[in-house]
Amino acid sequence: MTDPTPDAWHRVDAYLTRTLVGDDPGLDQAVADQRAGGLPPIEVAPVNGKLLNLLVRIAGARRVLEIGTLGAYSTIWMARAVAEGGHVVTIEAEAGNVAVARANLDRAGVGDRVEIKHGRASDVLPALEGSEPFDFVFIDADKESNTIYLDWAARLGRPGTVVVVDNIARGGEVANPASERSDVIGTQRGLEMLARDPRFDATALQTLDAKGWDGVAVALVV
Ligand SMILES: C[S@@+](CC[C@H](N)C(=O)[O-])C[C@H]1O[C@@H](n2cnc3c(N)ncnc32)[C@H](O)[C@@H]1O
Repeated sequence: MTDPTPDAWHRVDAYLTRTLVGDDPGLDQAVADQRAGGLPPIEVAPVNGKLLNLLVRIAGARRVLEIGTLGAYSTIWMARAVAEGGHVVTIEAEAGNVAVARANLDRAGVGDRVEIKHGRASDVLPALEGSEPFDFVFIDADKESNTIYLDWAARLGRPGTVVVVDNIARGGEVANPASERSDVIGTQRGLEMLARDPRFDATALQTLDAKGWDGVAVALVV
């Protein structure tokens, strides 16, 4: 049995990042500017950013919706992946984050294909009704609202839309039915919704990476 400690998983994550993701000046600078701007270090890990990029390409997605922009690290990964003529709409509640995100997107050369909607997602999402369906939805904001966001993902998507929900393991706390943490309860309700709502077929994986022990759910709108 190899060493299962956090040191070991950080070593493996660093190895995988070095081997399969590599250095990327646009993304590295985006993270540096987020840190300089005082944004919390809660963007997806590089291996997860690359996973989003690959999933958008595998889905052949042209229209992507993201809930929770922060400084646009994950947005850049997805904006680089959209098919010809593609477009990303990303929603962020904090004005300071929007400013950092806009600068990061423009410097990374994808600003022309990304629209940032400033506001609380539950207020912004209804205004997107009636637009062309989204092919890919990434949910990564306040976990308490995950069921609301999943409902909107199905309504704004179409059969075949891919939905990814981040942070579904919460350091293992998701398996605690007595948890009193509102983020954990929101995550549990979202996973239960993915299981029982006939609009979705889904699974979820635990992840161990630079951001610790967490996980990601992947769903298909059916
Ligand atoms: C985990 S961060 C997003 C990280 C980003 N997706 C990435 O990987 O680079 C969550 C973001 O959601 C935003 N947020 C939280 N609640 C929100 C809400 N109700 N509506 C819109 N954005 C919200 C936070 O301000 C924060 O920037």
